[in-house]
Parts: sequence; C-alpha cells; structure tokens
Amino acid sequence: MGLLSVIGMAHGWVRQRVQPGDAVVDATLGGGVDARFLAELVGPRGALIGFDVQEEALRRTRDRLEPLRAAGRLPARTSLLLRSHSELEAAVPAELRGRIAAVLFNLGYLPGSDTSLITMPQTTLPALQAALRVLRPGGILACVLYPGHPGGAEEADEVMGWASGLPAEAAQAAVYRMVQKPSAPYALGIEKKASPADPADSGSFH
Ligand SMILES: C[S@@+](CC[C@H](N)C(=O)[O-])C[C@H]1O[C@@H](n2cnc3c(N)ncnc32)[C@H](O)[C@@H]1O
Repeated sequence: MGLLSVIGMAHGWVRQRVQPGDAVVDATLGGGVDARFLAELVGPRGALIGFDVQEEALRRTRDRLEPLRAAGRLPARTSLLLRSHSELEAAVPAELRGRIAAVLFNLGYLPGSDTSLITMPQTTLPALQAALRVLRPGGILACVLYPGHPGGAEEADEVMGWASGLPAEAAQAAVYRMVQKPSAPYALGIEKKASPADPADSGSFH
C-alpha cells in the first residue's frame, strides 16, 4: 500500500482544518493542482487567493480551475495574482487577515518551464511569516520543500531554521519525510495556536 505521499500529507493537514465557505491561500500556484484542491475544499461560498510570479503558472491554474468555474463550483472570491508571495499580507483583503484557514506553499520551480526560476529564501521566509500572521488560530500552514534541486537544500535549511525557532505557545510545527532519501521532497506543517492575549496572534510571527 505504501505510506502517504508528501503532497498527500500536506493536503491531509489542510483538509482536516478547512470547511466549505472558508478562505484559503495558495502561495505558489504553479500548475494549479493545489489551487484546484483548495478550491474544491472551500467551495462556491469560499475564497481562494493565489500567487505566482509567472504568467504561465496563472494560465495553467486558470485552465485547471475551468471545469469548476463551468460547473458553478469555483469559490465566489477567487483571485489569482501575478505577485510575489512576499506581498501576501498586503494582498489578502483586510477583512480576511487573521481569518485564513490554510496557506499552502509548494516551493521550487514550475515543472516544464524555466527551472532556474525557483522560490528563494529572501522571499520565501517573509512570505511564511506573513502566512502565519494572516491565519486564524487553529489554521494550518503547509509547505512542501524540495532539497533536491540547486538552491533547494539551502532554502529548505533556512525554512527549517525559521520553523524550529517559532515559539511553541504560538505555533506547533511538524515534518513528514521519507528518511531513506535525504534529497526527496518533504512536508512541513505548522498549526497556528490561539493566543489568550490576542486571538489573531498577529504579533508573534517575525
Ligand atoms: C513547485 S511550483 C508550485 C506547484 C503548484 N502548487 C501546483 O499545484 O502545481 C513552484 C511555483 O512557485 C512559483 N514562485 C517562485 N517564486 C515565487 C514567489 N516569490 N512568489 C510566488 N510564487 C513563486 C514558481 O513560479 C512556480 O510556479
């Protein structure tokens, strides 16, 4: 039977916490597989905000979402943005900040495209921090890391260093990894905790 794939685990973390009508973010649209998964979870009453820096990724995502749109099942608020995820907090409408149920990152490059255009720690880390700020308490940040391509291991190390330093009272972080192949992708899940002092917990993630 085999263990769950890394993407399957990341999706599973998200599925457990997202309800129809929720608002979610896809921080790296790429081919649109994750966006479609998120769109189906939140349904027509939900909100989906997606980011990518390549027009090709937005085109592929629109194509992938087309059957949902045609069936009237696309989230009513769907925004596919040609913007870096480092602008995530500013791009999320003010009324949804602190109310996002899940943010999904799938790092690396767009398969079948320019493989030198990769996610970079200088933008990935601010984006991850912003993602935790916009999540609601109990919301989930799921991130798939790719240490196997040039630059990927350095990015994964920086992300893991940041995640390891998160205050335990503000967030709980876990990793799902196939241990026999160190260069294989792995999943990092971070659940935002409720803070008695500030339920939106917006000040804890820098
Ligand atoms: C592995 S792909 C994402 C896969 C995608 N989620 C899917 O379901 O097919 C990584 C994507 O991150 C995008 N990317 C790179 N830097 C980015 C940035 N600063 N902000 C947003 N997206 C970025 C790339 O253009 C690429 O499309």
